[in-house]
Amino acid sequence: MPRKTQNILVLGGAGYIGSHTCKALSQQGYTPVVYDNFSSGNKSLVKWGPCVEADIHDTDKLKQTLTKYAPLAVMHFAASIAAGESVYYPEKYYANNVAGSNSVLTAIKESNVRHFIFSSSAAVYGALKQQPIKESAEKNPINPYGRSKLIVEQMLGDFETACGLKHVSLRYFNAAGADPAGEIGNVQKNPTNLVPVLVHVQAGILKKLEVFGTNYNTPDGTAIRDYIHVSDLADGHIAALKYLLAGGNSDAINLGTGRGASVREVIRSMEHASGKKVRFKDVARRAGDPPKLVADVKKARRVLGWTAKRVDIDTITRTAWNWHLEYGKNY
Ligand SMILES: NC(=O)c1ccc[n+]([C@@H]2O[C@H](COP(=O)([O-])OP(=O)(O)OC[C@H]3O[C@@H](n4cnc5c(N)ncnc54)[C@H](O)[C@@H]3O)[C@@H](O)[C@H]2O)c1
Repeated sequence: MPRKTQNILVLGGAGYIGSHTCKALSQQGYTPVVYDNFSSGNKSLVKWGPCVEADIHDTDKLKQTLTKYAPLAVMHFAASIAAGESVYYPEKYYANNVAGSNSVLTAIKESNVRHFIFSSSAAVYGALKQQPIKESAEKNPINPYGRSKLIVEQMLGDFETACGLKHVSLRYFNAAGADPAGEIGNVQKNPTNLVPVLVHVQAGILKKLEVFGTNYNTPDGTAIRDYIHVSDLADGHIAALKYLLAGGNSDAINLGTGRGASVREVIRSMEHASGKKVRFKDVARRAGDPPKLVADVKKARRVLGWTAKRVDIDTITRTAWNWHLEYGKNY
């Protein structure tokens, strides 16, 4: 077990996936130091260590933070995350995700930190026909969000050449669910992903769910995605951290379950979790939405010794719904 003084700097640690990773870090004996501008993160999710309220564009503040806390590694979750929005506001995505990451890497280059874990995305692959998706598959992102993630992955290679920064890019599939102990969860006000949107529908915040496309070549006609429990993602970060600290080489690795669930299956599961019928409307497909996106997870198992444990879609919808009930009570 590491000593308590072993800090990990968590950029965007007040967000959904970052906060779950902070909890996992703390359970492993590390101290997560959160660095967040609270643009979408929430102070109530910072529970396991100090917090620096600042922006990743502030390179000097990052340098001061790296000096003050001397972290063993940096985990970088801070980003703008809505793929659909990125089509209309590409400048926001290139500024926050690409220029922001350049500021982060500039500060790190001048520090002693040489271990870096990056929140990448399945969006780097685009709409591939071949499923499940291997890390070596072609990368053809179909929106600025996906391109911003791919650019940062490539920048990481350049910074390794320049200063020896060892890094792992973790390509998440669809993060969903909440801490099974109910301490933290998704607090996004305007969610765009299926599970949090369903929570909002069941809570009466949204009138109904729109099901985009019902004539795909899938068993029930709706699109299939690989939903990965957020606590499994957090565990994946611990595995990547240990891998790098043990001298592992830089790499890019999928984090998914290797299984898929259709929109109809997720709806049924949420009905079961919340105890009521979901109001939904079938509408046309969205441009660019592929019928199926599922991760090939062999590399994560081989390289990191990690596999998802909470693979049942009911665990995802139940923890997401329970968190909503808990969050509504306390905040
Ligand atoms: N949610 C998913 O399904 C998913 C899938 C693939 C990849 N990702 C990636 O995972 C990461 C975390 O996503 P999330 O779902 O937890 O989103 P989130 O919005 O909950 O978390 C992002 C955090 O970063 C902070 N942040 C954003 N810009 C910042 C800046 N300029 N300076 C400082 N802090 C800033 C926000 O305040 C927030 O706390 C993102 O990089 C995202 O692209 C998410």
